[in-house]
Amino acid sequence: MQGFQVRSDGPLSHPLHGTAHVGGAKNSALKLMAAALLAPGRTELANVPDILDVHVMARLLEELGCAVKVSHPGFSSGAPGPSTGAAGSGSGLVSIEVPERLRHEAPYDLVRRLRASICVLGPLVARCGRARVALPGGDNIGSRGLDMHFTGLTELGARVRIEHGFVVADVPDRLRGANLWLDFPSVGATENLLMAAVLAEGTTVIDNVAREPEIVDLCQMLCEMGAEIEGLGGSTLTVYGVPQLRPVEHATVPDRIVAGTWAFAAAVAGGDLVVRGGQARHLDIVVDKLVSAGADVQHAEDGFRVAVDRRLRAFDVVTLPYPGFPTDLQPFAMALAAVCNGTAMVTENVFESRFMFAQELARLGADLRTDGHHAVVRGRPLLSGAPVVAHDIRAGAALVLAGLAAEGTTTVAQSQHVDRGYPFFVEILRDLGADIERVELPDLDE
Ligand code: UD1
Repeated sequence: MQGFQVRSDGPLSHPLHGTAHVGGAKNSALKLMAAALLAPGRTELANVPDILDVHVMARLLEELGCAVKVSHPGFSSGAPGPSTGAAGSGSGLVSIEVPERLRHEAPYDLVRRLRASICVLGPLVARCGRARVALPGGDNIGSRGLDMHFTGLTELGARVRIEHGFVVADVPDRLRGANLWLDFPSVGATENLLMAAVLAEGTTVIDNVAREPEIVDLCQMLCEMGAEIEGLGGSTLTVYGVPQLRPVEHATVPDRIVAGTWAFAAAVAGGDLVVRGGQARHLDIVVDKLVSAGADVQHAEDGFRVAVDRRLRAFDVVTLPYPGFPTDLQPFAMALAAVCNGTAMVTENVFESRFMFAQELARLGADLRTDGHHAVVRGRPLLSGAPVVAHDIRAGAALVLAGLAAEGTTTVAQSQHVDRGYPFFVEILRDLGADIERVELPDLDE
């Protein structure tokens, strides 16, 4: 089994120095790839991260009849790559040739490897009038319902049902515009309904939508394709349906979660890091928290700089849809709280099971208690290295950061989760001065 091994003598013992380059957002690139399905012809996406999930999405698009080419420059710690302008960020180009007639079935074998594949549902119903997409099934961060996706598509005129492990949706003629509202600003439901509504007949108003920068990026690409959408970045989107869209060239928005991860890395391990390519304005609340804790955060060219030379003060975190504190950065906040001065209350409002990570953090000696969706973390000067297991992308990366503040050796098993979301995670950390390597670990059930 794949793993990471981190060695440290505790916080500030191996401070991180240098520049971390941030590429395109995973959570945007995957949806932009799905949006390409809406227009026959060649769509070219730039600044797409070199991660496993992008390759799985490429396989899925091929399964639907597209020809997909993924080109990535590989890791470079030096100057910007000529093709992308994104030094060491591991971002590259994806070219998608979409046929006039798509196949409409997304098989279980691919969907179970990539939950985000559910985002082909909206485009397929809109383009083909029918879709069969396998249900993704269990997930390590909660039940992750899809009811709002299905209800919204039904309101748009599709007949939606579950058959033999697939969600099957069909529409006799063309989807028709409707007034929709979401119970909760779900990122996935907003995206699926948006991608269905752009080709519907008439006007669709979607209320209480998610406002994440990745949604704005998707809206912008759809508008470049010829869609008519009003309200970008707000909580109500109005979509005037058009009969067809055209393929485009589009660059993916920078990954604010990766940028935030590097900011937390400097906060946990200490050091002086420039995070380049990450837009600080998408991380206002995170930057504010780090500053209140005692970190020095400054604007830098095309990014920001985080300097930490002492133990930080604990701060509370409440996760909420954007622009609230991102749930994807919550594990990093908890890892940092474990070595801060004082006590932090962490409240998780988006995913019910995200605290599975807390049990692993406790194995590193963190003093914490969870109760429902609250966790109380009492900071300690130092953690203690131990073997731990990554249950998802962010938990895995946060355990590595905790390992940077733990005396001794920490091994993080199931590190493939981290590689799903972070291009060259280990290579970048080594470049910044961390003592980390990839190792082969015995299987967990041996
Ligand atoms: C996306 C991101 C994920 C991020 C999350 C919230 C991708 C690939 N993943 O996930 O990294 O943590 O947004 O920012 O972009 N829900 C329902 N019914 C629905 C839809 C959602 O109950 O129909 C619930 C989910 O169970 C979850 C919450 O709403 O508890 C948020 O889900 P959602 O915003 O849809 O997240 P994802 O799109 O799955």
